[in-house]
Amino acid sequence: MAFSCAILDAYLSILQSNKILAYSSLLFASIGLVKYVFFGLKLTNLFLQLFILSGKSLKKYGAGKGAWALVTGASDGIGKEFSLQLGKAGFNIVLVSRTESKLVDLSSEINGKYGVETKVLPVDFAENKSSDYAALAALIEPLDVTVLVNNVGQSHSIPVPFAEVDDTELTRIITINDLATLKVTKLVIPKLIAKKKGLILTMGSFGGLFPTPYLSVYSGSKSFLQHWSSALAAELKPKGVDVELVLSYLVTSAMSKVRKASTFIPNPKTFVASTLSSIGLQRGAQGRPATSTPHWSHAIFQFFVENTVGIWSDFVSNQNLQMHIAIRKRALKKAEREKKAL
Ligand SMILES: NC(=O)c1ccc[n+]([C@@H]2O[C@H](COP(=O)([O-])OP(=O)(O)OC[C@H]3O[C@@H](n4cnc5c(N)ncnc54)[C@H](OP(=O)(O)O)[C@@H]3O)[C@@H](O)[C@H]2O)c1
Ligand SMILES: *[C@@H]1O[C@H](CO)[C@@H](O)[C@H](O)[C@H]1NC(C)=O
Repeated sequence: MAFSCAILDAYLSILQSNKILAYSSLLFASIGLVKYVFFGLKLTNLFLQLFILSGKSLKKYGAGKGAWALVTGASDGIGKEFSLQLGKAGFNIVLVSRTESKLVDLSSEINGKYGVETKVLPVDFAENKSSDYAALAALIEPLDVTVLVNNVGQSHSIPVPFAEVDDTELTRIITINDLATLKVTKLVIPKLIAKKKGLILTMGSFGGLFPTPYLSVYSGSKSFLQHWSSALAAELKPKGVDVELVLSYLVTSAMSKVRKASTFIPNPKTFVASTLSSIGLQRGAQGRPATSTPHWSHAIFQFFVENTVGIWSDFVSNQNLQMHIAIRKRALKKAEREKKAL
């Protein structure tokens, strides 16, 4: 204590005798203070948004008053939960995905549990068929659609170096994740603008937030959605329509191939509940307009990385590379075991 006081005394006496040093010390201290205060505000905001503030009410979009929500990739995983929870909130639901039987089952489940109306349309978005888009347009034409959940998505079947990505897989990922999302959104937007009311949620991913080696096409397809969605959000805000990109780290599902939920890997039910209760809050996506990382553990993870090593750092890219090389090895071994078992 006495020692540090001596240092401080010496420092102060130098400051008194040297004006340049005194002013520059003040300057640096002020810069430090400003950075500290901003960081403190961001951190406070994160915690307020995660644990105190509530998001926009779904009533704003006509829940319980005959409004419809359209969900793509509706029959399984996250999309199924969006359909169930939006039905519970009082929306009628249009369910779109490939497998008609799954859609019909879910439709009667939603109908039976929540007493809302449902419509189903089997579409394989990978086929990019104009007749499918015409059918979807005709289906929603008479409906008061106010909510669109762009959930459908495909990733690589296993992590793979870009040079070895199968051409069919490459085309499917871009067609489903990007082209279909744009086309479906274009069909719905006129209705939202006419009503000056609506919500467009699009599923982004940490795979798109971080450049992700060995999932390069998926990573690029999801980061495409970030900029497209943010641009669209700015365009539609003056028209009364809310647009939000929803970011997520792993969630248990067929796509993630993770079965057991844990702190950092919630199940679809928990994930979707966190999304629908925080509309309009950025949570972990602080500083990204019209973007949200709704689940608390994903939010803290993103905030930590963004405020330390950074999202585009060599460190993170290399960690990500090593992780996906390891996952590829395990996946290839598993495939070999299964081949032998046949
Ligand atoms: N799970 C995660 O860890 C995670 C993390 C971040 C982001 N996301 C994103 O969240 C979204 C949903 O993922 P998920 O994990 O819930 O996936 P999932 O469990 O595999 O479900 C995908 C849904 O999309 C449908 N679908 C798949 N291909 C389709 C196609 N070509 N045309 C029409 N429908 C199709 C599937 O039904 P059919 O098979 O009947 O068509 C199913 O209903 C995706 O956009 C994904 O990128 C997921
Ligand atoms: C998708 O379909 C449209 C309309 O049929 C066509 O113009 C376009 O070239 C197709 N795109 C791809 C990538 O298949």
